[in-house]
Amino acid sequence: WQAHLPWIDAINSLKKQRNAVILAHNYQPPEIFHTVADMTGDSLALAQQAARAEAKVILQCGVHFMAETSKILCPEKTVLMPDLAAGCSLAESITAQDVRLLKAKYPGVPVVTYVNTSADVKAESDVCCTSANAVHIVESLGVDKVIFLPDKYLGQYVASKTEVKVILWEGACEVHERFTGEELRSYRRAHGNVRILAHPECPPDVLQEADFVGSTAAMISHLSERRPRRVVMITECSMSDNVSVEFPDIEFTRPCNLCPHMRRITLPRIHDALLHMRHEVHVDPAIAQRARQAVERMLAFGR
Ligand code: 13P
Ligand code: SF4
Repeated sequence: WQAHLPWIDAINSLKKQRNAVILAHNYQPPEIFHTVADMTGDSLALAQQAARAEAKVILQCGVHFMAETSKILCPEKTVLMPDLAAGCSLAESITAQDVRLLKAKYPGVPVVTYVNTSADVKAESDVCCTSANAVHIVESLGVDKVIFLPDKYLGQYVASKTEVKVILWEGACEVHERFTGEELRSYRRAHGNVRILAHPECPPDVLQEADFVGSTAAMISHLSERRPRRVVMITECSMSDNVSVEFPDIEFTRPCNLCPHMRRITLPRIHDALLHMRHEVHVDPAIAQRARQAVERMLAFGR
């Protein structure tokens, strides 16, 4: 921590000078999450907070689609990222042209798009969702069939929770798809009383073995309510690191899959972003206007 302190002090004073607010996803490391971040949370909470932000500058500590969502919701604000190369395997798995072809193949079927997508893809969609509200949003549409993009595992999980028929795309999160059901069984063998929480971006055999499935924020709420003695969080590494500070009485076993994109965000890069007012995230205004409808429709549903 000593090594981080000069960066943290410098960032906090630059934030005031620039009238900036820092939004950090739950997968950001503790030295960012617990120090310079003004607002933290899951993808849904970050979108909600961006929509309400009063500062002139939003510095997004997360990946590119999160910064684009902030820009879509706040076109008049300057949205910065410490590193524009922080992408996402889900966002990369599908293009706007892919969505147009799907819509031509299934005319009239609403497109429900996970926020882990580009602004171009959102612009082709009827409504967005996050892992916190996907089932709720699919059901709220009052239809018997939806196209669900792009995460096949989240889509399969949604399909298992609803009567609505779900047409899937072949996208996957490179972090969550690496977990296996056998890995979870080995944690149970090693620690009989362990409570296993898994993110719905994991494959079905993993979700079947888990005691609880939910978004990163839902996992935190679950821990608050249940207060288990020992926990495994089947998700990105930083989650357990961040959450263990809040729950010192819980023992966290840490199976760890790192998101290389989230790791691109570092204190020196945050500092330089505020110092040089870089790297600005732009979204074509015509695309942003169409994408905003899909995101705002999701925000109207809530969690
Ligand atoms: P949530 O925080 O919405 O659960 O998203 C998980 C994720 O993989 C974000 O990149
Ligand atoms: Fe994308 Fe997965 Fe990384 Fe989240 S954890 S940003 S879904 S690659």
